[in-house]
Amino acid sequence: MSNQDKIKELIELRAKAKLGGGEKRIESQHKKGKFTARERIDMLLDEGSFEEFDMFVTHRCTNFGMEKEQYLGDGVVTGTGTIDGRVVYVFSQDFTVFGGSLSETFAQKICKVMDMAMKMGAPIIGINDSGGARIQEGVNSLAGYAEIFERNILASGVIPQISAIFGPCAGGAVYSPALTDFILMTDKSSYMFVTGPKVVKTVTGEDITTEDLGGANVHASKSGVAHFLCDDEEEGILLIRKLISYLPQNNLEEAPITECNDPIERIDEALNNIIPENPNQPYDVKDVIYSIVDNSEFLEIHRNYAKNIIIGFAKLNGMSVGIVANQPNFLAGVLDIESSRKAARFVRFCDSFNIPLLTLVDVPGFLPGSTQEYGGIIIHGAKLMFAYGEATVPKVTVTLRKSYGGAHDVMSSKQLRGDVNYAWPTAEIAVMGAAGAIEVLEGRKLKSIEDPEEKAKYIAEKEEEYKKQFANPYNAAKYGYIDDVIEPMNTRFRIIRAFQTLATKKDTLPPKKHSNIPL
Ligand code: HXC
Repeated sequence: MSNQDKIKELIELRAKAKLGGGEKRIESQHKKGKFTARERIDMLLDEGSFEEFDMFVTHRCTNFGMEKEQYLGDGVVTGTGTIDGRVVYVFSQDFTVFGGSLSETFAQKICKVMDMAMKMGAPIIGINDSGGARIQEGVNSLAGYAEIFERNILASGVIPQISAIFGPCAGGAVYSPALTDFILMTDKSSYMFVTGPKVVKTVTGEDITTEDLGGANVHASKSGVAHFLCDDEEEGILLIRKLISYLPQNNLEEAPITECNDPIERIDEALNNIIPENPNQPYDVKDVIYSIVDNSEFLEIHRNYAKNIIIGFAKLNGMSVGIVANQPNFLAGVLDIESSRKAARFVRFCDSFNIPLLTLVDVPGFLPGSTQEYGGIIIHGAKLMFAYGEATVPKVTVTLRKSYGGAHDVMSSKQLRGDVNYAWPTAEIAVMGAAGAIEVLEGRKLKSIEDPEEKAKYIAEKEEEYKKQFANPYNAAKYGYIDDVIEPMNTRFRIIRAFQTLATKKDTLPPKKHSNIPL
């Protein structure tokens, strides 16, 4: 073979590899409204930046006559490229080859890019669209999954790991995405479950559709498995690019600082009027967030799950921050099992990756009741407390209104190593609300008053007295638990300056193998 023929052969092999499972299957993928593995990578990465690895890998299975069915690349496209000029590693499962099912060699390809991502300290992004374990490969496929899981675990807290689910993801296959930092799913075209509807029917008798069991909507609102719900793949890809823009490359770096054209001293008088006069009236804490962050840009995570707490990324003077805010607009912003878990995981993510935390507090307490107690609110609430108390990144807290009881301590309080704790003049920092307090403190006296009118008058008087003494920020400020009471309209400036001062913060944990967070 002449050298020219050899080059021609390479070009032909490349073209063959790029066709994956062939034109017919590509057509069928498109008919389902889905892109192919390679099209997805092309959309995700900066144009022309993709370097593919292992295009000529083929499987080694000989069961069921598999040796006769070979596809170059073996069903997963892997490699590296850039997003806004920053290096990332990617793998994208190719449904056109054996339904994107995972073989031994398929797993080895993924492990290779994961290892490289770890060595280079760059994020890894996985696009999932797979029928699960390649049935013909038996235990070799299971071993391949476990190799990936172990790498997910070791990479946790070292490099950001992002999973896009753009098709099926079932059985044990769900555990690789579950071990990563962020999962996004496309509406109506992706699903995740440990066992599918048929097994569910056989084992429990329950009749349920794929969509109702593990569709994107379910995971984005009920289970909390999915952090992001996207209308389609294009939106999903843009979202990954956006998400990456807030993150550092690894745990030893800081997130990129972007140029900021939004003045840091910008005041917003609307904030002086945002808290309703009636303390029981809700408002949307997202209005506060949009007002104080750069250019009102906020990337909300878990938008439809545990809506009583808001989490997400924004920039303050170009610096990435993770924001946690109680949402008075939903369940009065109470802390419950789901919201505690949601926020705890986010706080830990930010702390792992040196992203400072801004906490906006308006919390009436923990949700009471047997459902919460039986569900283990004690343990779940402790998760959030643990996450905040363990976090060594700069922590700025602003109490907007209520901050009651245990929830006050949990929400990045001074004693959980909060660095700068501000409060608005509308803050109410106390053990409990006035009504509850008076019921306990004046119980005996109230029993002795028979006339209902007199009783109501007495309660109102006592509540007013309590509010005057406790429903304000000054009692906490008196002890230094609040560093300053700030005018709401200046919040952007005050928190940016606080974070600027905290930029050199060094804080450590006692030496240990690892902590034992109440899981
Ligand atoms: C080998 C597979 C496959 C698999 C699909 N294919 N899944 N080949 N192993 N797991 C092949 C099909 O034979 C077919 O090949 C092609 O991929 C497309 O599949 P279709 O069934 O035609 O596609 P569709 O109708 O869209 O259905 C997709 C699907 C279905 C719902 C994913 O294929 C399916 O149910 N597959 C089996 C899923 C499963 O049970 N996996 C094992 C789960 S257990 P041709 O040649 O016709 O194109 C597991 C354990 C992991 O994953 C444990 C980790 C610890």
